[in-house]
Parts: sequence; structure tokens; C-alpha cells
Amino acid sequence: MTAFIEAASPHVMNTYGRVPIALERGQGSRVWDVNGKQYLDALGGIAVNTLGHNHPRLVPALQDQLSKLIHTSNYYHVPGQEQLAAKLVELSGMQNVFFCNSGLEANEAALKIARKFGVDKGIAKPEIVVYEKAFHGRSIATMSATGNPKIHTGFGPLVEGFIRVPVNNIEAIRQATEGNPNVVAVFFETIQGEGGINPMRIEYLQQLRQLCDERGWLMMIDEVQCGMGRTGKWFAHQWAGIVPDVMPLAKGLGSGVPIGAVVAGPKAATVLQPGNHGSTFGGNALAMRAGVETIRIMEEDGLLANAATVGAHLKAALQSALGSLPGVKEVRGQGLMLGVELTKPCGVLVGRAADAGLLISVTADSVIRLVPPLILTTAEADEIVALLAPLVQAFLAE
Ligand SMILES: Cc1ncc(COP(=O)(O)O)c(C=O)c1O
Repeated sequence: MTAFIEAASPHVMNTYGRVPIALERGQGSRVWDVNGKQYLDALGGIAVNTLGHNHPRLVPALQDQLSKLIHTSNYYHVPGQEQLAAKLVELSGMQNVFFCNSGLEANEAALKIARKFGVDKGIAKPEIVVYEKAFHGRSIATMSATGNPKIHTGFGPLVEGFIRVPVNNIEAIRQATEGNPNVVAVFFETIQGEGGINPMRIEYLQQLRQLCDERGWLMMIDEVQCGMGRTGKWFAHQWAGIVPDVMPLAKGLGSGVPIGAVVAGPKAATVLQPGNHGSTFGGNALAMRAGVETIRIMEEDGLLANAATVGAHLKAALQSALGSLPGVKEVRGQGLMLGVELTKPCGVLVGRAADAGLLISVTADSVIRLVPPLILTTAEADEIVALLAPLVQAFLAE
């Protein structure tokens, strides 16, 4: 390894504990570092690289767009916004879309919609229900909505107006909001990503939809990580047959090009009016083209079905290789959003996997997270297990 990647850069702010490799190029589900070493990418830029790397149809489309227009401004109409918004409305059954550049920005917009939705109804201090172990981003407001005390430390005072409840417990949310007229929305991930691949149960999602309808609350589902086909449906909540009122998206929507979006249903679609919210870069021509082409290619190549099939294969293979080991608590998740929870913290496995030629992450201290590109093949899924299983077995034996 070269000295340049062993040492932390003196000029880049030190906000990440980085694996000491530097990646230079990619093809499909594989990437190569500056020394020519190859890795199988089971992280996909943290659930971002939907189409893998250097996709033969995405890259020429982006090159075409680069040579036409990258960015104008939201002072003018951007045709790509209409194209991508129409597609997201079709896929979600919702009504309209606001475009931004990242997951936290999409969530900030959602939180602003919820507050103004309440204020418009005469609620002066709106409150939003959020969840234990939730992750919604690193801005002051989205961090406050996040349910991980480690992420809050050092950044107080937090934004007020959040009520926190445990997942999958309808009685808990009823109790926590009992007699409170200020509640305006419930905000959650269908499958918590950073919190450790924790799925909301289908029956809970349905009960929650009913509760939101009874109480006049907005159901706001953060599909930033679990959305865009990753679980085998366009949006993970669609497995429960429900439709949210507000849905932030980002990560996989642009297959690597930064993009965020908030999709709104009829209750939320007209809450924000000119002057209420905005973003200089949001909805720029390049990002819109990335979103349109990503979805087009996903449809043409049947990537939802691929995520479901290859994901089920990968989960079964992980289960059979690791599921019965005493140090493995659970293999869980859906489609190509899988977690293997161990009984002890296992962050050390990230570096060991990279040494073995596999990119993974560990989240919530003890959950190995696999969120590969949705183009992953069954053979590549088998390769992930072949690389990972011996590392986990050796680690558990230590
Ligand atoms: C569910 C969820 N919401 C929001 C975010 C924040 O997205 P970003 O890092 O693009 O701001 C993430 C990032 O991991 C996420 O997983």
C-alpha cells in the first residue's frame, strides 16, 4: 500500500474513520484501487450505486447531458424535473415532487412540510413522532430526529418538537401521543438502515396508516436508503400496500449523481408555496437526467425483480453459511438490503473484508450491512458469501 493512502490527509477534515484504500475505477459490481487491487462491491457507495459502476447506458446519457446543460437555476423551468417528477408520481401513486441534493435535505424539506402543515391548521408548536434507532441525516434538524444519542453528542441544543417511540409497537405510539393536539406527523424509515437493518412489520405499517388517517397526521416515510427498488419494490412501504403522504428519497435515485427528492401526496402537495423553500442546485439538469436514466434502465433491465431474486438468494446463502453459528444473532432484511447481526461489535470486519477483496460496512456496532448494486448477479452473491463467511467464522472464534 502506498504511503499516500496509509496516512490521513492533512487537508481533508477528519470526519470519517476510513479504510486505508483509495478507489480509482469501477465496472459493474467491482471496483479497483489505485494499486490495481480488485474488490467486489457489496456496499454500493452505501446503497447509492443502483446500476453499479461505469454503466454502459447511464454514462453515455450523462456525457450527453454534460455537453448540453449541467445547471441553470430554479428561476427557470427545468424540463428534466417534470420528466423525473412525473415518473416518481407514477411509481409512488403520490402527487408532486420537490427536488434537492441529498437525503438530509429531502428530510429537512419533509420536516418543514410537517411543521407548516400543522401551522396552517392552527397548531402553533407542531410535534412529530420519530423512532428509536432512526437515522435521518446530520443537519441539526435531521440529527435531532435521529434516534442515536452518539450522533447527538456535542451538538446540542437539539431541535425541539420530536416525540420518540419504539418501532413495531402501535400501543407505544398511541400512549406517547395520547391527548396531544400538537402532533402533526409520524416520520420513519420502512427499514431502518444505519440503525441496523430493522424492518417495520407489515401489520404495524398498516396500523400506522390507519392511525395517521384517524388523527389527521401526515405519514412521512424516509425511503432514502430502503427505496428505489432496493427491496424488490420501488419503495419498501409498498410491500404493506400503503401510500405515505410525504416520502423523502435520495441515495439510489441518481445511481451516484447527488440528488434528493421529496414526493408528496394530496395532503402535503400544496403546503409549500413560492418563497417557503428552495435549493440552488436542487433539480439541476444533470441530476434530473441521472434520475430519469436510472429509472429507465431499472425498468428495461428488470432490476426490481433482480433485487428480489438475488437478494433472496443472498439472504438464504448467508443464513445457511452463518445463521447457525452461536455468535450470529440474526440474518435479516429484504431484497438487496441485508444485515447480519453478531453478538459482539464487529467494526474490525470492514478492514478485514477489504483485505479479502470485499467492500461491506458495519452499522449499529454489530450489524454487517450489505447494500450492493441492484445489478448484482447470483454468482456475485455467492462470491460475497464465500469471501465473508470465513472472516465472520474466524472473528467469532477469537
Ligand atoms: C434513511 C436515511 N435517511 C437520510 C440519510 C441521510 O442522507 P445523506 O447522507 O444523503 O444526507 C441517510 C443516510 O444514510 C439514510 O440512510
